[in-house]
Amino acid sequence: MCGIIGYAGHRPAVPVLIEGLSRLEYRGYDSAGVGFIQDGHLHIIKAEGRLSSLKAKLEKHPCLLAVNGIGHTRWATHGIPTERNAHPHLGGDGKLALIHNGIIENYQELKAELLEKGYDFQSETDTEVLAHLIAEGRKQQPDMLHAFAWALRRARGAYAVAMVSPEDPGTVFAARLAAPLILGVGTGEHFVASDIPAFLPYTRDVVFLQDGEIVRINDCSWQVLSLSDLSVIDKKIQTINWDMQVAQKNGYKHFMLKEIFEQPHVIEECLSGRINLKTGTVSLPELQNLPIPERLRIVACGTSFHAGLWGQYLLEQIAHIPTVCDIASEFRYRNPVIGNNEMTLVISQSGETADTLAALRLVHAQKKTVLGLCNVIGSSITREADAVIYTQAGPEISVASTKAMTSQMLVMALLALYYAQRKGIIDLQALNQAAKLLKNLPGILQEALPDMEKTAEKLAVQFSKAKDFFYLGRGHAYPLALEGALKLKELSYIHAEGYASGEMKHGPIALIDSAFPTFALAFDDDLFAKTKSNIEEVQARNGSVILLTDRDVNPEKGMHIWKIPSLYGPFTSFLALSAMQLFSYCMADYLGKDVDQPRNLAKSVTVE
Ligand code: AGP
Repeated sequence: MCGIIGYAGHRPAVPVLIEGLSRLEYRGYDSAGVGFIQDGHLHIIKAEGRLSSLKAKLEKHPCLLAVNGIGHTRWATHGIPTERNAHPHLGGDGKLALIHNGIIENYQELKAELLEKGYDFQSETDTEVLAHLIAEGRKQQPDMLHAFAWALRRARGAYAVAMVSPEDPGTVFAARLAAPLILGVGTGEHFVASDIPAFLPYTRDVVFLQDGEIVRINDCSWQVLSLSDLSVIDKKIQTINWDMQVAQKNGYKHFMLKEIFEQPHVIEECLSGRINLKTGTVSLPELQNLPIPERLRIVACGTSFHAGLWGQYLLEQIAHIPTVCDIASEFRYRNPVIGNNEMTLVISQSGETADTLAALRLVHAQKKTVLGLCNVIGSSITREADAVIYTQAGPEISVASTKAMTSQMLVMALLALYYAQRKGIIDLQALNQAAKLLKNLPGILQEALPDMEKTAEKLAVQFSKAKDFFYLGRGHAYPLALEGALKLKELSYIHAEGYASGEMKHGPIALIDSAFPTFALAFDDDLFAKTKSNIEEVQARNGSVILLTDRDVNPEKGMHIWKIPSLYGPFTSFLALSAMQLFSYCMADYLGKDVDQPRNLAKSVTVE
C-alpha cells in the first residue's frame, strides 16, 4: 500500500505535495519522491527512507515555480526500498513521470515486450514498466491522454496512478483500478490522492472515483472519463466534514477497526499474482530455487506465532510435511537440534522482533536455511533470510495485529497448497476448489464484517463485567483460541486464557463458575462434537458460553450462539479470526481503553 498525490493549481506545487505526503505516510514510508514540471522541463526528486530524507534533498533543489506535480510515499511490493526503486518513474526518455499504488500482475510480460523494443529499465519496479508502456503508447496515440488510457487497458492487477508530462505542462492525469483514488475540487486548484487527508486543508469538496475511471485536472478544470472509451462521466461533488485524525482513519474510530475492515483488500493484495484461476495453481516464485523441505520448523512470537501454529495444521494435513512450531524466545535458548533437510520459517510482521531475529541467526549459525514471512520490506529479517515471502498487508499502525495475521495465515495456506502441488499429492480438483475459495474470500469476508461488528458490539456489552475469559478450540481452531485470548487481554486488560478444549478436564475446568465465561470455537467439522461436549462440561458448572460456529446449532440456555458463514475446510478460520478481533475491539472500546496504543505494549518488540 503506497500513498499518492497529484496537484494542479496556483500554488507552488512541491510544498503542497510534501504536506500531502506527510499525511499519507501511514500508507507507506520506505521511500518517497516528487515529480513536477518547471520551465517546461520535467524534474524528479526521490529519496530512500522517510519523507524527511526527501525534504532534505528538496532544500537544495529550487522548485517553487512549479504549479503542478505528483508525489509518492512507498510501501515496497516489487523491488527493495531504494532511491532507484522510489517513485516517480520516468517513461520513455523523460516523456512523462508516473507514480503508482498497487500491483501490475502482468508486468513481466509487458517488460519483456518493452525490452524487445529497446527500453532501458532503471528499477525493478512494475511501475516503471507501466511508465514506459505509456511512452510506447504515445508513439501511436494522438496525445498523452489516449496513450495513458491505451497503456492502462493493457495492464492487469490493481493501480491508482498519477502522471505528469512536459507535453501537458499544467495537467495531471490519474486513474484507478482496485486501489483508492479521490479527486479534490478546490478554487483554482485540483488534487488527486489515495486518501482525503492529503488535501483536506485545502478543500473538503471531493469526488470519489470508481474503478475504470480516468481523471484529468488542471488549475481551472477537472474531468472524469471512462477508461474504456474516454467518454465523459458525470460525477457528483460531495463535501467531507471529517477532521484530520478521523480522515486518516478513513472515517473509522481507530486504526485497529480500519485495519480489520481492510482485511478483504489485504487478502486480495496478498493473493495477487499467487493464484492462477485458469489453471487453479498456486505460484510462489520466491521458493522456486529452494528444495521442498523434508521437515519444517516455524518460529515466531505473539500473534505471528499463532499464525504459524495454525499453518502447522495445514502444512501437515495438506502438504504432509512434518512441521513443528516454536516460540522464538524459547527456541533461541534451547540449543535446538536442526535437522539436515529441515527449513526454518520465521514469521514476523515487523521483521524486527529481537527474539525472532535471534532465532534466524541461530539457524544460520548451524548453516541451515531460513525462509522469512514478513510484511515490512527491507526489515532486518528480510535482509538476512535466505528467501522471503511478503504478506503485502500494507503498514499496520495499530499495535494489536489484525490484518497482518490474516495475511500470514493466507500465506501459510498458499504454502501448504504450493508444496502439495510440487509434491504431486493434491488432485487438481481439490486445488481448484481451494484456489477458487481463496479468491472468493475477500467478497465473503467483506459481506460478513458488518453483521459481525453488530454481534461483537452486543456481546462486548453483555460480557463487559467479566474479569476472566477462557478461549477454547480444537484442531486449527486451537491457535485461533490462543489468538482470541491474546487480543482480549492486550486490548481490554481482561485476563483471558486460550486452551485446547480437550485440555479443560485436565485442570483448567476447576476455574469455571458463573463469573468465568468461555468463548468456544467449534467449526462444522469432525471435531465439532468433541468441542461441544467440552462446552457442555463448562455449562454443567454454570459457566456461560459464547459459541462461535459455522454450524447450525439449536439455541440453549446460557449459551450465546455466534453464527458465521461456513467455508471449505480450515478457511472458516479467516471469518472466525475477524469475529474475535471485532469482539476484542468492541470490548476495549466499550471499556474506554486506548485501542490503538494499549498500555505497556510496542508495535515491534526489538528488545528481549
Ligand atoms: C499482537 O497483537 C502483538 N502486537 C504482538 O504479539 C506481535 O504479534 C508480536 O510482538 C510479534 O511481532 P512481529 O510479528 O512483528 O514479529
